[in-house]
Amino acid sequence: MAEDLTILQGTKQEQYENLYPQIQGLLDGEPDLVANLANMAASLKEQFNWWWVGFYLVKSGELVLGPFQGPVACTRIAKGRGVCGTSWKEAKTLIVPDVEKFPGHIACSSASKSEIVVPLIKDGEVWGVLDVDSEHADHFDETDQRWLEKIVELL
Ligand code: SME
Repeated sequence: MAEDLTILQGTKQEQYENLYPQIQGLLDGEPDLVANLANMAASLKEQFNWWWVGFYLVKSGELVLGPFQGPVACTRIAKGRGVCGTSWKEAKTLIVPDVEKFPGHIACSSASKSEIVVPLIKDGEVWGVLDVDSEHADHFDETDQRWLEKIVELL
């Protein structure tokens, strides 16, 4: 498919409905993981203009920064630390409406106010996480959770 996105205004649901098949098309037939992580992060950033969106991958027992869009970020996160490390440990999506109220939140940027982290799971093992940060409080909900969980299944 063409390497440009059609960006839609509309409800969150409509935006995800429009974006999903485009991400599917971008990844279709491309076996390289880094290329796919990079295009997925870029697509999400382009559609939603979130503050930060990207991946941390499990390497030698810790999360290491992978492809992302946004300001520079911390490179390594231990299991159980911060929102990302907790999502990894619990193997579940975490929605954090106010990062200052999340014990142990790792503030890569003081601009970040809310966050959603979705684990990447294969054969029951977490191999990374998708992390999205917003400069607005309470930015993420079950619609984001449902769609982002569906989107990372494309990997
Ligand atoms: N806030 C995350 C760390 C990663 S950055 O936000 C990009 C956390 O608490 O795990």
